[in-house]
Amino acid sequence: MTAINRTFQLGSELSVNRLGYGAMRLTGQPGNFGPYPQWEDGKALLRRAVELGVNFFDSARSYGPEHVDRLIGEAIDLQNSQTVIATKGGIDKPAPGNIQVDGSAATLTRQIDDALKNLRVDRIDLFQLHRIDPNTPLEASVAALQKAQAAGKIRFIGLSNVNRAQLDRALSVAPIASIQNRFNQAEQEQNSLVDYTAEKGIAFIPYGPLGANPMKKGATLPAQGALAWLLMRSPNIIVIPGTTSIAHLEENMTAWDFTE
Ligand SMILES: NC(=O)c1ccc[n+]([C@@H]2O[C@H](COP(=O)([O-])OP(=O)(O)OC[C@H]3O[C@@H](n4cnc5c(N)ncnc54)[C@H](OP(=O)(O)O)[C@@H]3O)[C@@H](O)[C@H]2O)c1
Repeated sequence: MTAINRTFQLGSELSVNRLGYGAMRLTGQPGNFGPYPQWEDGKALLRRAVELGVNFFDSARSYGPEHVDRLIGEAIDLQNSQTVIATKGGIDKPAPGNIQVDGSAATLTRQIDDALKNLRVDRIDLFQLHRIDPNTPLEASVAALQKAQAAGKIRFIGLSNVNRAQLDRALSVAPIASIQNRFNQAEQEQNSLVDYTAEKGIAFIPYGPLGANPMKKGATLPAQGALAWLLMRSPNIIVIPGTTSIAHLEENMTAWDFTE
């Protein structure tokens, strides 16, 4: 039996533990809006994740908005650690449920500067376009990210909520290090994109890895099984289960024991 590779080389350069952490739920509820009310507990959870070997954290401007980036920046010394930080831009949320998509160069540039400050870093490892703005050509959004990359503000460019044709369009402008789309054992519409990104050395970061939102009844295995299935599915998959519970975090980190 071939052993499963536990790391993925993001952008062929950064070694990432394929068992990561998604921070969206460390926010006020409902609507992932406002600061996480148990702010100090949130920091403790993030630090526990680092202790358990997590070195890939997924965030986004729209989580809070900005509060999750700030929480991670406070909890982890990203500038002086091996932790890989992934955040996103192109969506803002001025009120719960009020999603504003804007992938214009001016907005992305401003959001990158905000994220650098919030995360307390000189450079963001992975900056993902959260969603394509119907009013901005995808190529223009990617070009703006490439400009930030050339300026040393971001290391790698990622995309989220895209299909293969859109990925190809983005690739015609700049190298793309990752895709983040919804995918789990119960929702496998992205199967061909998982394989396509694997061929190209691009990370596939499935969101909703536990089938949450809402958690599918009956269809899901226990959490470790669902995560193990993803880890076994393809070597370019980096899982980012979200949890507000240290007990669940510890449970999720044992998912390797369920791979075979
Ligand atoms: N790019 C996008 O558009 C997009 C969209 C959605 C999400 N995301 C990213 O994907 C990450 C994960 O997505 P998600 O949070 O929606 O879904 P998820 O990770 O599939 O599920 C999270 C839910 O599962 C529960 N859970 C976690 N571990 C558990 C365990 N061991 N046993 C039982 N329940 C457990 C959590 O509750 P507890 O807090 O009680 O543990 C939470 O309600 C997010 O944090 C975010 O970074 C991206």
